[in-house]
Amino acid sequence: MTSLSPRANETESMHVGVFDSGIGGLSVLRAVRESMPYAVLSYFADSAHAPYGERADGHVLERSHKVAKHLIDQGAKVLVLACNTATAIAIDRLRARWPALPMVGVEPGLKPAVALSRTRRVAVMATPATLRSDRFERLAQTHAGTAFVHRIPCPGLAALIEGGDLAHPRLLELLAEHCASIKRFEVDVVVLGCTHYSFVRDGIERLLGPGVTVIDTAQAVANQVVRLSGPMRARTSMPISLRLMTSGDATSLRTVASGWLDVSCQVEAWPSV
Ligand code: DGL
Repeated sequence: MTSLSPRANETESMHVGVFDSGIGGLSVLRAVRESMPYAVLSYFADSAHAPYGERADGHVLERSHKVAKHLIDQGAKVLVLACNTATAIAIDRLRARWPALPMVGVEPGLKPAVALSRTRRVAVMATPATLRSDRFERLAQTHAGTAFVHRIPCPGLAALIEGGDLAHPRLLELLAEHCASIKRFEVDVVVLGCTHYSFVRDGIERLLGPGVTVIDTAQAVANQVVRLSGPMRARTSMPISLRLMTSGDATSLRTVASGWLDVSCQVEAWPSV
C-alpha cells in the first residue's frame, strides 16, 4: 500500500476512484467514506466481468486497465483497487502506466494476522487467482516468518455473494466446508483475502467460534487513502458526494449499496466500459 503523493496544491475535496470486480469493494468504500467524509467518491463495480478470481490473469489485467482509465477519465485523483485479485495481478502494471497517480491496493492482512496469532497458525481465505499469484507468494515470504499459513482458495464464493442471496444454500454449504477445514488446521486467526467475503463475515465468525479472530484490511486501506490524499478542505455544500457505476446490473448494485452503505443513490450503468 505505498505510492506517490498527490499534487501539493490538491487541497480541494479529493476525488477518489474505487473499483472492484463487483460489490466486494463496497466494504472498502464504506471505510474510505467514513474516514474521508468530504471526499468525492466514485465507485465502479465491474460485475459484467466478474468473478476476477477465477479468470485468467490476462482478463483481470485488461479489465483493471479499462476500469482504471474510466475512473481517471471521470476525474479520480487517487485510485483504490478494492479487490485483492486485481491488486495481486494488475497494480504493478497500473502504476507503471500512470506513475504520477497515487494508487492503493488491497492485500490479504497476513502481517497483522501473524502478529496476532498465538498458535502461529493462520488461514487466508481468498480467490484462486490471488493465492496463486507471485505477489501473494512474496507477501507470505516476507510476513509469515515461522508461522504456518493455511491457504484456502474459495472458488465460487465471490460469485455467490455477488448474486446477492446471502442465505443461498450453496453459499452456506461452501462456508461450512471452508470453516470445517480451517478448524481442522487449528488456526486462531483467519484473514479475509477477498473483499466480497466481508459480506459473510458474521457467518464465518459464527462457524469458527469465539477462539478464532477474523480480520480484513478495509480500515487499513482507508487509512492509507487518507495519507495519500493529503490535506482536504471541508466542502460547504453536500457533506457526501458518492457516485456508483457498474458494467453490470444497476438495480442489484443499488440494492446492495443502500443496505451496506446506508445511502440511497442512483447507480449508473456503463456496459461499454
Ligand atoms: N473482490 C475480489 C477480491 O477481493 C474478487 C472477487 C472476484 O473473484 O471477482 O479478490
